[in-house]
Amino acid sequence: MKEKISALKKAKNAIILAHYYQEEDIQEVADFVGDSLELAKKAAQTDADIIVFAGVYFMAETAKILNPTKKVVLPDLNAGCSLADGCLPEDFIKFKAQYPDHKVVTYINCSAEIKTMSDWVCTSSNAKKIIESIPKDQPLIFAPDRNLGNYLIKETGRDMVLWDGSCVVHEAFSLEKLIDVYQKYPDAKIAAHPESETQILKVANYVGSTSGIINYIKNDKADTFIVATEAGILHQLQKEAPHKTLIPAPSKEDNSCACSECAFMKMNTLEKLYLCLLNETPSIEVDQAIADQAIIPINRMLNLS
Ligand code: 13P
Ligand code: SF4
Repeated sequence: MKEKISALKKAKNAIILAHYYQEEDIQEVADFVGDSLELAKKAAQTDADIIVFAGVYFMAETAKILNPTKKVVLPDLNAGCSLADGCLPEDFIKFKAQYPDHKVVTYINCSAEIKTMSDWVCTSSNAKKIIESIPKDQPLIFAPDRNLGNYLIKETGRDMVLWDGSCVVHEAFSLEKLIDVYQKYPDAKIAAHPESETQILKVANYVGSTSGIINYIKNDKADTFIVATEAGILHQLQKEAPHKTLIPAPSKEDNSCACSECAFMKMNTLEKLYLCLLNETPSIEVDQAIADQAIIPINRMLNLS
């Protein structure tokens, strides 16, 4: 399957972009593996004719908005995201109307329609920088992730109105079980994604995006790390930091398995990736009027990154 994908990729001048949460085989066949900001930048810059986006829908949609003349295909069109799917435009319009003086910063994990209602887009790797670039007296709405929002309020000292959304994967980490693991490995350092709940972020030694977590673990002197993010990141971590001991943070629900997987990310399989490259479908289409508006806050973010 990997050989067939490589041959097709060359024949069609395609590029495969994969997020760290994709299954190992997909990461191995990808031309580039990165966090959501790096993937958006790669998508914007590529001169390939076809972008195979191995990630979730909002990421592929952002790629299409940034590079509209390219064909963008997603192995499984149902690969959603609890944050994006939990913030519907009709609800967000009403929410926003309650705060007419506020400007809107949205996490990139939202639909293109929500981006049209935003003043700035951000990712977990640049959110603090984006918020700090906005004059302090400007009241802000932050959507759709309340955990990242609460973390940013703490980090920047700004009061923001938060949309009440969350990531099903990162909300599942258990502090109680994390403490049990920590007692077994008292020298371990804890690295967490900011979509995790406040009590997890409070005990973390490092909080950052998926790429940020990889760089931290690679460069820190400690040997053992408890990793509070989706389990797919462990593949890249094992490659980049082979001598470190990596322990996935335990989740609240599951007693048989310590790892947390994003069911949306895992909808993409190597076979679906092959088929979408072969058939050039399902492809992402974005209404032109929506794309024209949504690109404005995305470009504001890219200019600040
Ligand atoms: P990153 O920006 O760190 O890649 O995170 C994206 C995401 O969906 C995390 O759940
Ligand atoms: Fe969305 Fe959470 Fe999956 Fe990331 S891990 S894509 S935020 S559901």
